[in-house]
Formats: sequence, C-alpha cells, structure tokens
Amino acid sequence: MNALDYRSFADSWEERATIRTRPRRRLEDDQRLIYPLSRQPLVLSATFQRACPHLRDFVLVQSLYKFINDVVIFETEIVDRTARRIAKDRFTVRFPFACRYDAMTVVVDEDYHALVAMDFLQQTIALTGLEPIALPTEIELSRAIPTALAQVPETLRDALELICVGIAENTLTDDVAAFARDDTVKPSVKGLMADHLLDEGRHSSFWARLTRIYWQAAPEVDRQMIAQVLPVFLGQYLTNDIQQAFDFNLIEALPVSETLRQSLREEVLGLAYPINHQHPLLGNILRFFRSSSMLESPCVQEALRGYLP
Ligand SMILES: [Fe+2]
Ligand SMILES: [Fe+2]
Repeated sequence: MNALDYRSFADSWEERATIRTRPRRRLEDDQRLIYPLSRQPLVLSATFQRACPHLRDFVLVQSLYKFINDVVIFETEIVDRTARRIAKDRFTVRFPFACRYDAMTVVVDEDYHALVAMDFLQQTIALTGLEPIALPTEIELSRAIPTALAQVPETLRDALELICVGIAENTLTDDVAAFARDDTVKPSVKGLMADHLLDEGRHSSFWARLTRIYWQAAPEVDRQMIAQVLPVFLGQYLTNDIQQAFDFNLIEALPVSETLRQSLREEVLGLAYPINHQHPLLGNILRFFRSSSMLESPCVQEALRGYLP
C-alpha cells in the first residue's frame, strides 16, 4: 500500500465515534465492583484474601484511579501529541490530507476519552468519598518513547515515534477488552471500557496503515536503524516498575500492620510478568508488526528474536 491508496474512515467515524453517539454514563451505586479483580491481582493474592479482604473495595477504587490517570496521560500526552502533528502536517513523514483528517479524528477521540475518564474520576470520588492516593505522573511510554527516540538520528525520530505510538495503540485494545467482558463489574464502568474499545478498533488499524505506508517507502538503512531500537523501546514499555511503585504506595496506605504490609509487598513482587514472548501484550504487539508489514523485514525479525515465540 502507498499513501495514495489510503482510504479515510471519516464516514464510519461520523456514524460510530463514541463522541458522536454515546450519552454520558453514570456510575451506579450498587454492590458490584468498580474495577475488575483480574486487573488488580494484589486483592486475589493469598495474603490479601486471608488477612484483609475487607479492604478490597478501597484497593479497587484506588486501582481505578490509577487506570484513569494512566488513560489521561496516554491520551493527552502521548497519542494526542503525535496524531495532532500528523493532522497539522508538522511531521517529518508526510501524509496526504485523508490521513491527516483521520489523524484529527484520533485527536478528538483521545481528548474525549480523557474527558470521560476525568468524569469517572469525579463521579467515583463523589460516590465513595475516597480521594486518590498519590498517583504516578508518568506512564511507561513517557520514558520508553524518549529513550528510543534519543537513539536514532533526528531525521528518523518522527518515523520511530509513529511506530512507538502504533505499538501502544495496538496493545491498549485487548487490555481494555478484558475489562468489558467482566460481569462482576458495574455496567457503567464496563460501558466506559466498551465505548473506548469501539474507538480504539478504528485507531489500531489507522496506526498500522500509516506505519505500513511509511515502512514500505523507507530506505533499508533507515529500517535497520529503527529495528535496532525496538528491543530498547519494548523493554521499557513492558516494564512493571511504575505499577509496582504504585502497588507499594497503595500498600502503604492500608490500615494494617507493618508485618502484613511486608507480606503484601512480597505478593506484589511475585506478580510481574517476564519481559519476553510470555508477556500478555506481546500477542498484540506482534500483530501490529505483522499488519504494518514491518515483520516482513529481516532486520525486524532479527531485532525481535527475544520476543518471538
Ligand atoms: Fe483512547
Ligand atoms: Fe487510540
């Protein structure tokens, strides 16, 4: 595919974008969970279940706050930034108007997702009376993208940024899906996730198509330089450091003994996924490398050797 074959999804955006089609969602005051247990395994750990199961809802509410905080950072500081520069033709990689128009719909969608997330933050505080504990000021991508960009020449930075955001926008998808299927969770929270997922389906193919357009036209030497940096990016993107620091803060905030805190910290240390092909996001990441055609290049196959099953 080259840039001239690009077909805009503007019509389906008009018909399906959640900002065009969804009413405001209200958080239900019921007995259901505010955040899925599967997304906060600390509460499922043996120590937690035995020693402090009554603190479950506090942990889940705080975990929802972190999730919301992550969404706002991701949407406004990462995706918005890149999509906006593409839309305004301020990107080293040039795209035709149809791509730039679609990029602007991504900007609108992402800023709307951030707004909806902030709405849920305020609704949750109002419903539970719980204020968030100190939340992280960055997400994994806030470090992984600048680190990767610093390793390529200036002229390749936008192309690499496109690929990094493309990877990130293709991993969020299943992450959010796990949420939407869980029947123990409040319908409004699931609805929020389902809305988001609907928009992200459009985005994931948008980023894959733009990356494909870039990659097919890129000189081999540029491809090789970019491929070499992919393991650096993935290593930082898939790290568990920020989640772990948050979980430790959360444990600190629990009204329990220091001995129990220590046991809970040990449970958290056992939760990290290995950063290799066993990581749960790897399936989606490889799908992006396939759909963008990048994985057809020997230099990419070579660079990703540690991540291929
Ligand atoms: Fe989004
Ligand atoms: Fe997105």
